[in-house]
Amino acid sequence: MSEFILKHQEGAVLTLTFNRVDKKNALLGEMYTDLSDALERASTDDAVRAVVLQGSVEVFTAGNDLIDFLSNPPDAGKGREVPVFRFLEALRAFPKPIVAAVCGPAVGVGTTLLMHCDLVYAGDNAAFSMPFVNLGVCPEAGSSLLLQNLVGYHRAAEKLMLGEPFYAEEALEMGLVNRILPPHEVNGYAQAQAAKLAAKSVASLRITKALMKQHHPTLSAVMMEEGKHFSELIRGPAAKEAMSAIMEKRRPDFSKC
Ligand code: COA
Repeated sequence: MSEFILKHQEGAVLTLTFNRVDKKNALLGEMYTDLSDALERASTDDAVRAVVLQGSVEVFTAGNDLIDFLSNPPDAGKGREVPVFRFLEALRAFPKPIVAAVCGPAVGVGTTLLMHCDLVYAGDNAAFSMPFVNLGVCPEAGSSLLLQNLVGYHRAAEKLMLGEPFYAEEALEMGLVNRILPPHEVNGYAQAQAAKLAAKSVASLRITKALMKQHHPTLSAVMMEEGKHFSELIRGPAAKEAMSAIMEKRRPDFSKC
């Protein structure tokens, strides 16, 4: 496990912490691999009964590392060999409860991964966004399906098409988070909730989660379709323009793409 994902187990709760704070916890391939290894192992390890996914008090994650995106764009043809796709599938299929603790920015996959978690607690400093269109790509992690199931088509379209940030109060009202807390209390509260879950019947929780998740039978196929379009778009002119604009600290010009 790299230094960028910290792994800590207390009792039956496994905590995975994004730890690349100087880069706002932007996710590199090796970080997705570490997360996937940990989740895949935890899914069959009887000693783990619940997982917490957290960042720091200042930042959850700035999403995929943009430089990594440019130098190593995901290729849907390689399926689970692509670290981000492997991680998303491990998260989708994870059979035990996952509790997320979100403070500060949660950009891109930082927001979409929350739709796969069971409980989400947010600091009052949390800022969510899914700026895929602004980067010339498209939604991932099943968010094109899960978000509209959560909030209806028009609100999902607003979040996915405009890609503007929204904050803790709105996320609570949307049903994306369970509770808002002062930032310093979020990780501790998530731990306590996970410990409560870990003390319950594993079989009951597993079946409860499976029963609730079965209502998305097409989710895996949606994620694969999103991945295919994402990997085409990231190689296209709009993504190139968006990334260049970020590097050059200017507004992108999408008039020709
Ligand atoms: N990929 C790579 N590096 C990133 C990053 C990302 N997604 N997000 C932030 N960083 C880096 C910055 O380049 C900067 O590095 P530097 O100190 O070497 O210059 C450092 O993290 C701090 O970022 P900064 O933008 O100064 O912090 P901020 O507090 O002003 O803003 C964010 C935080 C998350 C709102 C802002 O960094 C951001 O919008 N990042 C891009 C998010 C994004 O588009 N992600 C892709 C989603 S699909």
